[in-house]
Amino acid sequence: MAIFKVSRVETTPFDGQKPGTSGLRKKVKVFKQPHYLENFVQSTFNALGADKVRGATLVVSGDGRYYSKDAIQIIIKMAAANGVRCIWVGQNGLLSTPAVSAVIRERIGHDGSKASGAFILTASHNPGGPHEDFGIKYNMENGGPAPEGITDSIYSNTTTIKEYLIAEDLLDVDISQIGLTSFGGPEGKFDVDVFDSASDYVKLMKSIFDFQSIKNLLSSPKFSFCYDALHGVAGAYAKRIFVEELGAQENSLLNCVPKEDFGGGHPDPNLTYAKELVDRMGLGKTNTEQDPPEFGAAADGDADRNMVLGKRFFVTPSDSVAIIAANAVQSIPYFSGGLKGVARSMPTSAALDVVAKNLNLKFFEVPTGWKFFGNLMDAGMCSVCGEESFGTGSDHIREKDGIWAVLAWLSIIAYKNKDNLEGDKLVSVEDIVRQHWAKYGRHYYTRYDYENVDAGGAKELMAYLVKLQSSLSEVNNIIKGIRSDVSNVVNADEFEYKDPVDGSISKHQGIRYLFEDGSRLVFRLSGTGSEGATIRLYIEQYEKDQSKIGRDSQDALAPLVEVALKLSKMQEFTGRSAPTVIT
Ligand code: G6P
Ligand code: ZN
Repeated sequence: MAIFKVSRVETTPFDGQKPGTSGLRKKVKVFKQPHYLENFVQSTFNALGADKVRGATLVVSGDGRYYSKDAIQIIIKMAAANGVRCIWVGQNGLLSTPAVSAVIRERIGHDGSKASGAFILTASHNPGGPHEDFGIKYNMENGGPAPEGITDSIYSNTTTIKEYLIAEDLLDVDISQIGLTSFGGPEGKFDVDVFDSASDYVKLMKSIFDFQSIKNLLSSPKFSFCYDALHGVAGAYAKRIFVEELGAQENSLLNCVPKEDFGGGHPDPNLTYAKELVDRMGLGKTNTEQDPPEFGAAADGDADRNMVLGKRFFVTPSDSVAIIAANAVQSIPYFSGGLKGVARSMPTSAALDVVAKNLNLKFFEVPTGWKFFGNLMDAGMCSVCGEESFGTGSDHIREKDGIWAVLAWLSIIAYKNKDNLEGDKLVSVEDIVRQHWAKYGRHYYTRYDYENVDAGGAKELMAYLVKLQSSLSEVNNIIKGIRSDVSNVVNADEFEYKDPVDGSISKHQGIRYLFEDGSRLVFRLSGTGSEGATIRLYIEQYEKDQSKIGRDSQDALAPLVEVALKLSKMQEFTGRSAPTVIT
């Protein structure tokens, strides 16, 4: 066995290598600059510290976007040089973000070792390709994203870095072939283990859900199913789980071949970007679909987000998590012992709150970002959680999980139809949602996004809204002057969160106006935009009156929308007469 050499390569810092909530995301051409990726990876190793890196087993993989294959070879060579003992790579470099989390938590290596962390190569729902985005983030031994202490230290290292370590003469590993490749290094053996991307994840899903009951549902002539991976990594799991394990038809999978550029599309599962699925489900603008499937779902590039649709019916992510929580114990074996608690992000609608109250469950409202759920889960306080931004998940891992959400929904549909699979008509997705509203009331909900607005204007708007909060009577006067049919604001604040587990405090997490009838207006600056600022306005209204729960949501919310736009002087501050996207 040839012994590889460790080279110390001199380098200088790059500006702007600050990881956001979900790692470092930049255009591919930025990542391709000599030393750019290397600086970030070495800064990560340095932030973890030699005792966490030497002798460790680490995972490296991602959603398969353009530049992943080159990045994987670079990271393998740097890991070898930094004293890592073994690198695990999903075949062809593919692992969904939830699968990485599962692999860290569950997989046992050839030598009995477990992984203590992972480099995930993804820019999530951002487009991919030579002119689009690449990304890298680090996850810890609990399977969740690195906490702020680590990401701050990574960033600070990137500003002072002078050299990185790399085993330049290490031969490239063929990551298309499953198997172990061993190298000899100055400190002993270094292994690269290329393994099947799906099997650990599939095993975990089978331990959570009753696959037989889902299989029965999928084989019912009354049920039809459709899944769109938008050419992201979910395709690698969809075929294995939905077709091979659960017996769905091969032609029920749309765009399920992972592609480096996601087929030129925008791999974000929403009503705008998952166009093919939306059309097929009978929700397209010029709908020509005669008989849409009973159930449809989509995932983003790295398969942590999900969108759930019924026949001509959209399930809002806020309703989705509430409905999963309300039905989990009966429908999903993993939860049969009860839920430890539930949680949602602050801007997500209060549909989950009503379920928690009704079922007497612990409930948490956390700032936007999955890491807050992870803390609660590690402490055994939360089983099911979700966000309005198409993220749903549970404590089986420490990331949101797109395929898990679909299996949760299929389990609920299977449960509701368990004595009805031969009947005339199945209980549909729409029936399930309407029954939920009838029992718990309905939270009308919409989000307005103002993308790429001038950062100064956005800041001023937020400051104005905070200032306005000092006098509620003035706020109510202004509102009455806009619409008399909207209830009174009874509370207004800037959301602040004290983590019940580690006591850390997160401030300035969004501006809230809370109304007497349970309605809410929330204003927040996005933490994921790449140009200028993105203002998000979340509008919500609670309706318990049975005769009023079936309205079109934009109609029902029109008065509150008018109030929100005028109260915030949106047009004055941003120069925009309309949002970029409405969901
Ligand atoms: C990422 C995170 C989510 C979060 C979302 C918010 O997807 O993983 O946990 O909800 O960003 O994005 P925003 O642009 O609203 O800050
Ligand atoms: Zn994602």
